[in-house]
Order: sequence, then structure tokens, then C-alpha cells
Amino acid sequence: MKERKYVTSKKKFYVPSREMKRTAWVSESKIYRRALKNPFEFWESYAKELVWVRRWRKVYREKLPHFSWFVGGKLNACYNCVDRWLEEKRNKIALMWEPENPDERERKFTYYELYREVNRFASTLKALGVEKGDRVSIYLPMIPETIIAMLACARIGAIHSVVFSAFSSEALKTRLIDCDAKLLITCDGYYRRGKLINLKENADEAKKGTKVEKTLVIRRAFNPIKLSKEDYLYDELRENVDGYVKPKTMDSEDILFILYTSGTTGKPKGIVHTHGGYLVQAYTTAKLVFDLHESDVFFSTADIGWITGHTYSCYGPLLNGASVLIYEGTPDYPSPERIWQIIEKYGVTIFYTAPTLIRMMMKYGDEHVEKHKMESLRLLASVGEPIDEKSWRWFFEKVGKGRCPIIDTWWQTETGGTLINTLPGIGPFIPTYAGLSFPGTRHEVLNEEGKSCKAYEEGNLVQLPPFAPGMLRGVWKNEERYRKTYWSRYKNLYFTEDRAYKTKEGYIRITGRADDVIKVAGHRLSTAEIENAIASHRDIAEVAVVAKRDEIKGEVPVAFVVAKPGREVSESDVIKIVERKISKIARPKHVIFVDDLPHTRSGKIMRRVLKRMLNKEDIGNVTTLANPESVQAIERTLKKLGMI
Ligand code: WT7
Repeated sequence: MKERKYVTSKKKFYVPSREMKRTAWVSESKIYRRALKNPFEFWESYAKELVWVRRWRKVYREKLPHFSWFVGGKLNACYNCVDRWLEEKRNKIALMWEPENPDERERKFTYYELYREVNRFASTLKALGVEKGDRVSIYLPMIPETIIAMLACARIGAIHSVVFSAFSSEALKTRLIDCDAKLLITCDGYYRRGKLINLKENADEAKKGTKVEKTLVIRRAFNPIKLSKEDYLYDELRENVDGYVKPKTMDSEDILFILYTSGTTGKPKGIVHTHGGYLVQAYTTAKLVFDLHESDVFFSTADIGWITGHTYSCYGPLLNGASVLIYEGTPDYPSPERIWQIIEKYGVTIFYTAPTLIRMMMKYGDEHVEKHKMESLRLLASVGEPIDEKSWRWFFEKVGKGRCPIIDTWWQTETGGTLINTLPGIGPFIPTYAGLSFPGTRHEVLNEEGKSCKAYEEGNLVQLPPFAPGMLRGVWKNEERYRKTYWSRYKNLYFTEDRAYKTKEGYIRITGRADDVIKVAGHRLSTAEIENAIASHRDIAEVAVVAKRDEIKGEVPVAFVVAKPGREVSESDVIKIVERKISKIARPKHVIFVDDLPHTRSGKIMRRVLKRMLNKEDIGNVTTLANPESVQAIERTLKKLGMI
């Protein structure tokens, strides 16, 4: 293969090479000016590249905090992802799946095969009584059927709600109840680091006391499972259904999916996304930010249970008629070379991952990555948390071999698709900077009074109108939380809950969250949620969970626990309850037993003080606390544990 260079070095950053500029969808920065002048014309021009049953009457309507896009437009998401490619790309690979066990066979689907599978699945859903607007929960690992199930829901107008397969049964239950799911789709089991996980057991437990009527079970691991009369095996049903289901004509503003994410309170919120706007943004950003072309193989390591999986392992690439690769397992199993082997096996051209994975690979040592040339790669991208300079450079040098740009993509579950990034044909690629607002959108950094911050002054990141088409349309059945979380901080502006600053040139650098959300290995968790789980233990009086910086995971939760007088609680009790109520991914890295937590005079726990202590920062003045002596006692405990 001819070695191509896609970047050129400038002293402290990189710009696209001539080769990259020549082939990229956009290579001239006038796209920003054009979109700024008329964002509607910009979004409409890309919306026209999708197939609509009926054209929209009005492009944007705003009645804050609500807004809608492509008003009156009608289309179907599944049709746009699958059917529309049947002539042009019938035999092109749409989806590839790599199993965790390298000795097991991979699976591949052409667009035609995907079409067949999605139709059978949609037919099965109909046979089970699922109708337009019904909520279908999908509790599945990374297997092709997860994507097929999502597309099948979209085809018949059912609302899917995917729940990350590593969430516990209690976490699933909360979500099933919140959205009143009618059907639950799960599988028998799957493998994680070679270990069989019986997912069906979790699903059975979660279903109790919910409105779930039926469970559709996919066979993945062929492990023994218990089947009740409400359980249906997909393998049996799919034999007896029609091979074609007409795609339901959906309104642009009909709901496509609900995805739960963590916020400041203990309860996850159901983020609502719609057909029209979400699809247009998924399509446009996938095309321009990842520069998807006919021969690309796109590989994202995010799980389908998170928004990145939805937008860039399913909708975005398929809307572009691209080839997508998904991987079932962990990146370092069975060896630290696994992820590089996968890139070579499939000739991946675009690799999208998170800083936490990069740090993990970095720690294994360069010899593993250096064995792999990965000549097919032409673009690298990062998401989930700010990428530090060391990881950026390692990713650039060791993975991209100094040939590929790194596109840092900022976004959120709420924004539906990436909104702050760098376009590969334009650049510049500056380590640790996400870049500019995607064309057609505007972001600003504001101080507490709502004034724009000066260059390099850190403040709160907001989005200005018109709000991007793929933005959330609400929090499922919770208008108040929608208003309060995103629209109450600044009048008529969307508050991202992130902190950031801009350079003189306007490049945005994200510095972290403004709220109590923590990013553990890229997973979004709320400290309040973890606290709630721990506080439910009958022997625990009080608990505070704060984030501690971590070399690999970025941040990890640390729990400060006060036991009830005369009661004994162990570290493993605390960890177990978090695993049971939420997930292994949320388990505290350390549990620190203390006699008292620092309180304000009004009784609020001063988490900030704990966090600063843990991260070895100046704790400031604590004399105004109700119990300043608690701080010294905790300090002594932390010292004794060797933590500070
Ligand atoms: C939060 C959203 C959206 C994809 C996965 C995360 C942080 C996300 C970046 C980035 C710095 C980032 C923000 C954001 N974040 N991408 N490129 N640079 N920070 O989605 O779980 O909804 O989390 O992740 O803090 O608010 P999410």
C-alpha cells in the first residue's frame, strides 16, 4: 500500500496535507462563514441529501426552551439508513462484527443483507404487538442484532431505549419504569474477558414490577437460560414472519429514541431525540467530521449503550452508506495488541476512540502498537473527555504514525452529534483543543454574570440559537428537569454544564464539567447516583462521593462513608451495593470510613473540600464550616492511608 500523509507539521500543531485537502468533503474555511450567515440554508442543504417522504414547510421554529426543525417534514430513519442504498450499494458491506474471542467467526452484512435482517426483525416486533410510539428497551451487548433491533424499531416508528449491557438489573429496572417500556429485547449471555455473563438473568430480575409485557431473547452465547411464557426466542419467531415491513412515515419531530444519561441528581434522565433533526445532524457530522467516503471502514470503540454508539456506530455512518465495524469485547483482551490487530484485520481507515483507551494502551508499552503498521488508517478521532497532551501525542505518533490528523470531537448525549470539532480538510489540529463550533452552530464561553469571557478566561460553555437540529427535544416526561438543567442558568441559552475557554483565534478548549457529573473511563456517572446507592445500605448514616484524578480512567469515584453508631460496614459491602444498584463501572476506587463529613452551617455536605483534599489541591478557608475539625480528621485518615 502506498504510504500517504494526511497532515503537515507546523511548529506546535498540524494542518491537513495537500492529499487530505484534495479528497476531503470540505477543505475551505468559507464553509464557516457561509453557515454563520445563514445556518438554515446550511442545514437545509444537507437535509436535502436525505430521502424525505414529504418536504418540510418551515426549517426552524423556536419557542424557547423548545424548538423544532424541518417542521412538517416526513421521513423514516431506517429507510434512510438501509433501503435507500439497495440500488447503489446493494453488495457493499454495511456492518461488520468482530467477536471477543478471536477464534470465533466474524459476521458481515451487506446493505442488502442488513435490509433483510432489519425487515425480519421489524416484522417480529409487529408480531409481538409493538406499535408506533411504543417504547422498546434494548438491553444487549455489542452484537449486530443490537443495531438491527434499533433500526427495526425506527422502521415501525417504535421508540428505542438502549440500556448499556454492563448496567445492573436495578439500573435497567429504573429505566424500564421511567419510559414504560412495553417490550424488552435482551440476549442469553455474552462474553467479557472470556467470562460468560448471563444477561437474561439480569433482564428477568429487572422486569419484575414493570410494565414490560414480553421479552424477546436473542441467542448469542447459547448458555442455558430459563424461559417463561412471556419470553420469545428471536430465532424461532424470525422463521415465521414476513420478509418485508413498510417503513412507517414519521414526522420530523416524532421521537426516534430515548437514551438515559446521568445528571446532577440521583435519577438518570431520559434524553429525547427526534427523527428529522437528529438524523440530519448525525448524517452531516459523520460526513464532514469523519470525512466518510466510499472506501472507508469506520471503527468506533464506544459501546452502543452510549450516545456515541447510537450516532456513530449506527445512524451517522449508515446514513452515509459507509461500512461500519463493531467489536464485542474489551480492547486489551486477550492481549494488549487486540485493538491494533482488529484495525489491521479489517483495514480500518477511520478510528474513533476515547482518551481512556489511549492511556490504557500507552501504559502497556509501545512495543505492542509498534508491531502494527496500520497503513490503512487515515483519520483518528477522540471523544468523551478532554484529551491531555501526552495522550494526544502518543495517539498521533504511535497509532497514526505521524500521518493522520486527530479530530477531537466535543459533544454530549444531549447534543445528539458532535458540535465542537475540527474539520479534517481545514484544520488546524492542536493538541488538547476541540476546535470550533461545527458550521451552523455557535458556542460561547460566559462568566457567572453572563458576559463573554476574554480569551483564555475559563467560564461556562453555552450554545447560542439557532439550536442545532440534533439537540435533545426534552427529558422524557420531565419538562421541569429539562428547563431547570439546561435553560435556567442563562436566559434563552442552552447551558452545556461544561467549563471551557477560547483562544484569541476562537479555538475552544474544554476543561471539564461544571456539575457533579464524573467521567469514569469515558462513562458518564453522577456522584449523586452513586451516593444514593450507597446511602441505601441500612448501616450507613451518611456518604459523599467525589471524583479523584486517575492516570488511566481520567477520574474515579471515591466514597467517604460514615457508618451508623455501633454498626460495622466493610469496603466490600459498599462496593457490592454500588455494583448491584448501578454497575461495576461505577464502583468506588476507594472507600474511606470517617466519623464525620464536613458540613456547611445549613447542613450541606462540602464535597468540594473533600475533592480538593483528595486531589492535593488547596482546600481554602474552611473556618465557616459547621464542623471544621472534621476536615483535619479526614486529612489525618487520608495521610494514614497514604492517599495524600
Ligand atoms: C460530556 C458528555 C458525546 C460523546 C460521549 C460523551 C465530555 C465529551 C469531549 C471532548 C472534552 C468532552 C463533556 C460533555 N466530553 N466529549 N471531546 N473534550 N470533553 O457523552 O456521556 O453525554 O458526556 O463529556 O464534559 O459534557 P456524554
